[in-house]
Amino acid sequence: MKVLSYMLIALLLSCSKEKVITMQKVDIGNVHFEYPSDWNLTTLKGIDSYISYLSKDEDTLWIEYGWYNAKIYNYPLKNNLFKQITIDGREAILETSRNSIGGFASLYIPKTDSLSGLYIRNRKGNIKEVLNIYKTVRIDNPKRKQFLNFDSKSYKTKSSPPGIVVYENNCLNCHSEYRYMIGPALDFNLIRSKSKQWMKQYIATDKKSGESATECSQIKDSHQINEIMKYIYRGNLSD
Ligand code: HEC
Repeated sequence: MKVLSYMLIALLLSCSKEKVITMQKVDIGNVHFEYPSDWNLTTLKGIDSYISYLSKDEDTLWIEYGWYNAKIYNYPLKNNLFKQITIDGREAILETSRNSIGGFASLYIPKTDSLSGLYIRNRKGNIKEVLNIYKTVRIDNPKRKQFLNFDSKSYKTKSSPPGIVVYENNCLNCHSEYRYMIGPALDFNLIRSKSKQWMKQYIATDKKSGESATECSQIKDSHQINEIMKYIYRGNLSD
């Protein structure tokens, strides 16, 4: 009997030592998300942008927010899965590796408002756990109760990437949405000033005339043209 009660006390002690995991809230600009308290948040100071990281065990989740064109698709695409989704009216892209443990997942929202973008990515870890954090992302604090849906449907591969990826990969080398670079700013005003038919034609046209050193590029693949069109007109393709 005595042994049993000792065991009971030991059990109670060990239970009370176990940490209760709660959800912590983070607000960065107009973006809000939550993470479980067994992750650790460290905020680094940024001048033009906000950078922080969440860490747990082997994994680190980097969070960058700011007014810049991140251009995350500089390099040939990795053999990952891509899913373009709308978060509270903003286009976003989720990229994940095919394996759920020891894998990579990122969430990229090029424009959370007219000036800022958000990019969250991990190194290697349990994708499920990382996705549970991404799922809580909200923009502008809407009253939406449901979490984001990252079910396994409608993922695309690197051979037929969705709009954001095609656009970033092909257009942002020379254009920015904010200012004149090698080409004019591809901002809302410019895009809205062109008819959709004109834009589609322009993207598909070979502009090489030999007159200027840098010409706007031509996209030949019709899937890619359609994806760029959908993205730059935010899905609203009816004239
Ligand atoms: C190699 C650099 C380069 C790349 C890559 C590029 N552009 Fe351009 N773009 C330019 C330049 C330079 C101009 C200005 C050319 C001109 O006015 O004749 C331009 C002009 C434009 C214009 C404005 C045309 C007008 O008459 O107002 C649009 C729209 C455009 N580009 C869209 C795109 C899209 C969409 C992509 C990606 C598929 C893209 N560009 C990729 C260099 C580039």
